[in-house]
Amino acid sequence: MERTYVMVKPDGVQRNLIGNIVSRFEQKGYTLAAAKLVTLSKETAETHYSEHRERPFFGELVSFITSGPVFAMVWEGEGVIKAARQLIGATNPSEAAPGTIRGDLAVNVGMNVVHGSDSPESAEREIAIFFKEEELNDYQKDSNKWV
Ligand code: TYD
Ligand code: MG
Repeated sequence: MERTYVMVKPDGVQRNLIGNIVSRFEQKGYTLAAAKLVTLSKETAETHYSEHRERPFFGELVSFITSGPVFAMVWEGEGVIKAARQLIGATNPSEAAPGTIRGDLAVNVGMNVVHGSDSPESAEREIAIFFKEEELNDYQKDSNKWV
């Protein structure tokens, strides 16, 4: 089953948006395979964002993403990699459509609340940065059983 890496950034944690963001993925129908609140080291942040190493905003990006805890998650389900990017919306919140996370909850391109892997290769790479294999839960949901 397809999996992707999603992370509530420090601004989202500070603004009490973890529940809102988790809720959108749950309601869409995806399954949470792993989650944890973690403060990134500079090294981990630089590895995660290594594709942007030469960009002018890299220093600010690393400093922002290490400024407080992030909520790291792995979401699982059919087509979840592309769908997560659609739920998240455009990188620049001023261009993100209403109804998307960034369109609804963010203003600034730096502080855009959430990260989502942009391809199957990125998803595999990013999941491995943040989670050990044994931290990824493999289970089926059967909500009727619990109510
Ligand atoms: P990017 O991977 O292009 O966007 P996305 O998060 O949608 O995959 O960029 C990574 C992060 O870098 C982005 O979420 C916010 C930050 N960033 C800036 O601060 N300024 C910029 O001009 C861009 C393109 C990104
Ligand atoms: Mg990206």
